[in-house]
Amino acid sequence: MAAPSVPEEPRSFWIDTSDTTAYPSLSGGVSVDVAVLGGGITGVAVAAHLKRAGMTVALVEARRLCHGTTGHTTGKLSSLHGLVYDTLTSSFGEESARAYGEANEAAIERVAALGEEYGIDCDLERVPNYTYTESEEEVGQIEAEVEAAKRIGLPATYTEESDLPYPIRAAVRFDGQARFHPRKWCLGVARFIEGDGSHVFEETRAQSVEDGRPCRVQTDRGELEADRVVVATLLPFTDRGFFFARTHPEHEHVIGVRLDGPAPRGMYITAGSPTRSIRSHPASGGDVVLVSGESHKTGQAQDYEQRYGNLERFARERLGAGSVDYRFSAQDFYPADQVPYIGRMRRGSDRLYVATGFKAWGMSHAVVAAMILEDQLQGRENPWSELYDPNRLKPMASASSFIKENVNVARRLVADRLTKREDLADVGPGKGAVVSDGRRQLAAYRDEQGQLHTVSARCTHLGCIVSWNDADATWDCPCHGSRFGVDGEVLEGPAVEALEQVERS
Ligand SMILES: Cc1cc2nc3c(=O)[nH]c(=O)nc-3n(C[C@H](O)[C@H](O)[C@H](O)COP(=O)(O)OP(=O)(O)OC[C@H]3O[C@@H](n4cnc5c(N)ncnc54)[C@H](O)[C@@H]3O)c2cc1C
Ligand code: FES
Repeated sequence: MAAPSVPEEPRSFWIDTSDTTAYPSLSGGVSVDVAVLGGGITGVAVAAHLKRAGMTVALVEARRLCHGTTGHTTGKLSSLHGLVYDTLTSSFGEESARAYGEANEAAIERVAALGEEYGIDCDLERVPNYTYTESEEEVGQIEAEVEAAKRIGLPATYTEESDLPYPIRAAVRFDGQARFHPRKWCLGVARFIEGDGSHVFEETRAQSVEDGRPCRVQTDRGELEADRVVVATLLPFTDRGFFFARTHPEHEHVIGVRLDGPAPRGMYITAGSPTRSIRSHPASGGDVVLVSGESHKTGQAQDYEQRYGNLERFARERLGAGSVDYRFSAQDFYPADQVPYIGRMRRGSDRLYVATGFKAWGMSHAVVAAMILEDQLQGRENPWSELYDPNRLKPMASASSFIKENVNVARRLVADRLTKREDLADVGPGKGAVVSDGRRQLAAYRDEQGQLHTVSARCTHLGCIVSWNDADATWDCPCHGSRFGVDGEVLEGPAVEALEQVERS
C-alpha cells in the first residue's frame, strides 16, 4: 500500500468543520465596562462570563473568531496535562497542586454546563485522558504522577491498558475528561455576547492600551473606551509585565488522519520524547484522528517536511492510518515555572488583566481564566487566583528556564544579523528566504507566478530577524513568536505593526 501523503496546503480540521463568522469591525465611539482583546477560546470564555455577571463587554478580535491557536488545537479538555502534578507538588507545594487540579476540573464542568445551557452542539463527550509510556524507564514517573494526583483528590488511576492499537507499558488515566469541538463551542458561546450594550468586533486589531479612567484601546479601526481591559491575545501585545520575556513560544504540528481500523476513544499523550498526542473526533466520512507533536521553538526550524513526515509515519505504522486528510500547526506560550499567568497585569492595578502562558493546555485554562477574572473584576475572592497570579514570585521554580530562554533570544538577536544570506536569484517560486541587499536584511518571497514580495526582515516587536516557515508560507519571529504574512501583515503578535515595506534599489 502506498504511504498516505500529507496535504500540500495547511487546513485546520476545526475551521473546516464549523461555521464562518461575520461580526462587524469596530466603528464609531464605543464605551463598555470591559474590553476583552483577543477572540480565541480565552477571550470568548472571559467575555461571556463577564457579560453573564452583568457587565457590558466588547470582544475585539484582530482576524476572525478562533482562527488563532484555538482553531489549530487538538482540543482535549482535561485536567491531566502530561505529567504535571508531581512536579507542581515539588515546586509549589501540595495545596497549589490541588488548586491547579480543582481549577481545571471545574473548567471541564463549566464547559459542559455552558454548552448545555446555551444548547450548543459541540460534540462534547466524556472520555478518559491518558499520559502513557512504552518504556520501562518512565514507569516510575507514571507511578509518581498517579500518587501525586490521587493525594489531591483527582480522578487518577494507574493502568497498563488502553484502546490504542499497540501495547503500552504504563499510563496515568484520568476519568471524566472530555473531547469536544472547541470552535463550535466558542462560536455557540459568542452568540450570547452581543446585545444589551455588549459587542463582538472582528477584523479589529488592538494596537495599544492606555491605562486610565477610562482605559483607551487604540485599534486599527478607531478607539474604544472601557473601565477595564482583559488582554487575551495568546501573548499580550502590550509590553507591560514583560510576558514575552517570561514565556517562550513552542510551535507544534498536527495531522488529521482516518484509520483503516477503529479509532481510539481515549485521549493520549506520551510521557516522554518524542511527544505524540492522539485524540479522535467524529466527522462525516468517519472519525478523524488528530496526531500532534514535532514541536520546536517558533521560527527556529527549517525541516518542516521532515516533521510532518515523522507524524505521518507514526500514524501509519502505529495507528494504521489509511489517509492523511488534514495538516495544520500552531503555537502556544510556555511560562518559566509551568503555571499560566492569569490575573492583574501589574501588582495593585485593578484596570488591566491578562491570561497567557497556557503551555498547550488552554482548553481548560481559558475557562479557569474566565472564572478567576469574573471573580476579580467583581471584587470577589477566588481560591485559585494566588497560584495563577501573574506577579507571583517563585524564583526557584522559574529561574533556570527564564535564563535559558532569554539567552536563546539574545543569541537570535545578535547571531541572525551576522548570518550569511541567500541571493535573491536563488529564491525559487513558492519559496521565501532572508536575503541581504548590502544594507538591510530583507524577507523575500517569490510567488508561484514568479513575482517577488520583499519586506524588511526586522520584526516590528523588538527587532529580531524573522525566518521563513515553508509549511505555512509565513515569516516567523524566533524571539517571541510574532508571525507575518508574505506581504508583512501581522498574523500573530506580540507585534502589532506589519513588517516594513521596502523599496529595492
Ligand atoms: C498544536 C496544539 C495543540 C494543542 N492541544 C491542546 C489540547 O489538546 N488541549 C488543551 O487544553 N490545549 C491545547 N492546546 C493549547 C490551546 O489550544 C491554547 O492554549 C488555546 O487555544 C489558547 O487560546 P487563546 O484564546 O488564549 O489564544 P488564541 O486562540 O490564539 O486566540 C488569541 C486571539 O487573539 C487575537 N489577537 C492577537 N493579537 C491581537 C490584537 N492585537 N488585537 C486583537 N486581537 C488579537 C488572535 O487573532 C487570536 O484569535 C494546544 C496548542 C497547540 C499549539
Ligand atoms: S516577537 Fe519579539 S522580536 Fe519578534
